[in-house]
Amino acid sequence: MEHMASVVPLMYKKSDYLKLCDEIWEHNWRYYVANDPGISDYEFDFLLKNLQDIERQHPEWVFPGSPTQRVGEQASGAFVTQRHAVPMLSLANSYSQEEIIQFMARVEKQLGRKVVCYEIEPKFDGIAISIRYEQGYLVRAVTRGDGEEGEVVTANVRTIASLPLKLRGDFPDVFEVRGEVFMPKAVFHELNQLYQEEGRAPFANPRNAAGGSLKLLDPKQVARRKLAVTCYHAVEGLQLGSQYKMLQKIKEFGLPVIGDAAQCKTFDELWDFAQKIGQQRDQLPYEIDGVVIKVDDQHQQQELGVTGKNVRWAIAYKYAPMQVETIISEITVQVGRTGVLTPVAELKPVFLAGSTIARATLHNEEELMRKDIRVHDHVLIEKGGDVIPKVVKVLLDKRTPASHPWHMPTHCPVCDTPVQRLPDEVAVRCPNHTGCPAQSLRRLIHFASKGGMDIEHLGEKVVTQLVEKGFIRTFSDFFRLNEEQLEQLKHFKEKSIHNLLHAIHESKHVPLDRFMMALGIPHIGAETAYVLAQSIGSLDKLRIMTEEQFMELSGIGPKMAESLVTFFATPEHLAEINQMLDLGVKPYVEEKQMIAHHAFEGKIFVLTGTLEHYGRDQASSLIKERGGKVSGSVSKQTDYVLVGKDAGSKHDKALQLGVRVLSEKEFVDML
Ligand code: IVH
Repeated sequence: MEHMASVVPLMYKKSDYLKLCDEIWEHNWRYYVANDPGISDYEFDFLLKNLQDIERQHPEWVFPGSPTQRVGEQASGAFVTQRHAVPMLSLANSYSQEEIIQFMARVEKQLGRKVVCYEIEPKFDGIAISIRYEQGYLVRAVTRGDGEEGEVVTANVRTIASLPLKLRGDFPDVFEVRGEVFMPKAVFHELNQLYQEEGRAPFANPRNAAGGSLKLLDPKQVARRKLAVTCYHAVEGLQLGSQYKMLQKIKEFGLPVIGDAAQCKTFDELWDFAQKIGQQRDQLPYEIDGVVIKVDDQHQQQELGVTGKNVRWAIAYKYAPMQVETIISEITVQVGRTGVLTPVAELKPVFLAGSTIARATLHNEEELMRKDIRVHDHVLIEKGGDVIPKVVKVLLDKRTPASHPWHMPTHCPVCDTPVQRLPDEVAVRCPNHTGCPAQSLRRLIHFASKGGMDIEHLGEKVVTQLVEKGFIRTFSDFFRLNEEQLEQLKHFKEKSIHNLLHAIHESKHVPLDRFMMALGIPHIGAETAYVLAQSIGSLDKLRIMTEEQFMELSGIGPKMAESLVTFFATPEHLAEINQMLDLGVKPYVEEKQMIAHHAFEGKIFVLTGTLEHYGRDQASSLIKERGGKVSGSVSKQTDYVLVGKDAGSKHDKALQLGVRVLSEKEFVDML
C-alpha cells in the first residue's frame, strides 16, 4: 500500500495519470491473463478509485484506453456492419481418424513433402471475432458474420475483462487478432437457472448465450454476462514463420490465449494430443467441441491456400457428443420459486463424461410430447454443448408395454392447488404463491443465492435445513438468525457459524438491483432490475411509482410495470421489506457523479464527426454528468452541436438552423 500512496500525489501531472493507467493495465493482465495477481482485489480497487478521482478532476485527459473506459455506450441503437479487410475464413470438419489421415495426405501431396509440422490446439465453441488494435489501443471488434462482413460490436467486446484495451510489449502499429468470444460454463449455468426461474426459455448452450449477449444493446448488461475471449490467429503482420510462434507472440502482447497447443509431426502425436484434450473436456471451465489441426509453417499455409470459404491448411476434428443410454424410471415435477412446474426425468444412474447422472430436465410438457418421451422408456442422454444433461431421443425399438405417457399434473404436487397455464406461456404454474411450501423454499434459496443477496455459505442445503428446523420462513428471518440456532445445523462448528453470521451481516449492504432480484419480483430479470435501479435510484421511489411511470422507462413493458406495481402494493411484501430495512439491510445505488450547476444543465447536445480526445460515449457521459442531454438529430430544440473531424450533414443542419456549433477545443474549455 505504501508505494501506491506515492503513485498519486495530490497535484496530478498528466504523466502520473498515464503511469497509473499503465500500472492498472499491468495488474489487469496479471490477474486475468497471467493468472498471477500481484496485489489484492482491495488494492486493485484502491488504484482504480484513485484513477477515477483524477479523471473527475481532469476529464480532458480521459481517453478510450483508460482502464475506467471498459463499459461505455453503444454508439447507436443498432449494430452497423463492416467489411473485413481480410475475409474471416472457416474450417472443414472431420469426425474420424481416417478423415484426419486423409487431410494430412492431401496437405503432404500438395506441398510435395513427406514430413510436415502441424500445430494442434483446442477448438472453442463460441462466436468468432476480429479485434483491431491501432497504436496498441483496441479500436474495433467485428463479428464473423458471413465471413465477408460482420457486425461492429466494439462497445460490447470492450467489456470482456480479460481482453486488454491496451497491448503490452513490442506490438505493431496496426494489429488485428482473431479469436472466439465464449461464455464460461459456470456463468452459463447461472444465467440459465435464472432464466428458467423467471419462466423464460433458457439458452440451448453457452455458445448461443455468448451470441445473444454480444448482441445486447446495452454494454452495461453485456459486462454483467461475464464473457471471455481466447485468441488464435493474427491477421497479416505477424510473419514469424510458424503458427506456434504466432500464438506465443499474441500472448506476449497481453492477449488471452487459452488452452494448450502443441507441434506434432506424425498422426500418432496429433491423435494422442486430441485424445488428451478430449479427456479433459468435461473438467474444463469452458466448452470446446474439438481440436483444430493447422499446418504450422506460415509459408506452407499460403501455398496451400483456400477452397471456397475453408482454408486448405487446417481442419477441425470434432469430438462426438457425449451420449449414453439409460432408462427413465420416473418423471417427477419440480416447483420453482415462481411456481413454474418443470418435469424432470429420474434416470437409472449412469456415468457420463466425468460425472454420474441421475436426473435430466425435460423443460416442459410440449418438449415431452414432441420427443414422445414416456416413463420406463430407454433413452439416449447427452452432455454436449449444454451443461445440464438432456434426453436426446427415445430408443423406440426398446420400448416395452410397461412404458406409459406422462401428463402434467392438474394439481401442484406439493400444495395440491389446481395449476394454471397462461394463454401466452408454455409454462404451467402453481398459482399458490403465498402458501405453496415448494415455492417458498425456492424463493428463500434464491434470495440467498448469487443471483440475489449473494450470501456466502448459504447455499441450497443450508437454507433447506434452516426451513426444516423452522428457523426461517420469510426473507427477514435470515437477518434474525443467531448462534444457538446455527449450532443445531449439521456440520456447523464455531468457525462456520461465525463465517455465516458474518456473511449475512456483510450482505446487508447490497446494490438495489440485486436486492430487487433477491425479492423475486415476477417478470423482472437481472437486466431490468439494473435499469430500474439506475434510473429510479432508490427503493422509496420505486415503491410509489405507477404503471404509467414505469412504462416511460426504456425496456419496461406493460407486463413488467403491472408486476412491479402489484408487488409493491402487496401488504405482506411491504411489511417484509420494512422489516429487513429495520434489521439493517441497506440497498444502495452507485451514485453517478453529477456535477452540479454546470453550464450544460438542461442543454441538448448533438455530436457529429470524430473527436480527437474522446470516444463518443465518453463525450456523452461528460455531458450527462453535467446535467446535459444528448440527442441523435439536430432540430430547433438543439442547444449545441459538438463538431469533430469529418462532420457531415448534422453540421450543415446546425448552420442552417442557426444552432450554436462547438469545436472540441470550445467544448473542453466549457467542461
Ligand atoms: S482457426 C482460417 N482456431 O471454428 C482459420 N478457429 O468451424 C480460422 N474456432 O470460424 C479459424 N477455435 O470461429 C481456429 N483454435 C481455433 C478455433 C477456431 C474455434 C472457430 C472459428 C472458426 C470455426 C470454424
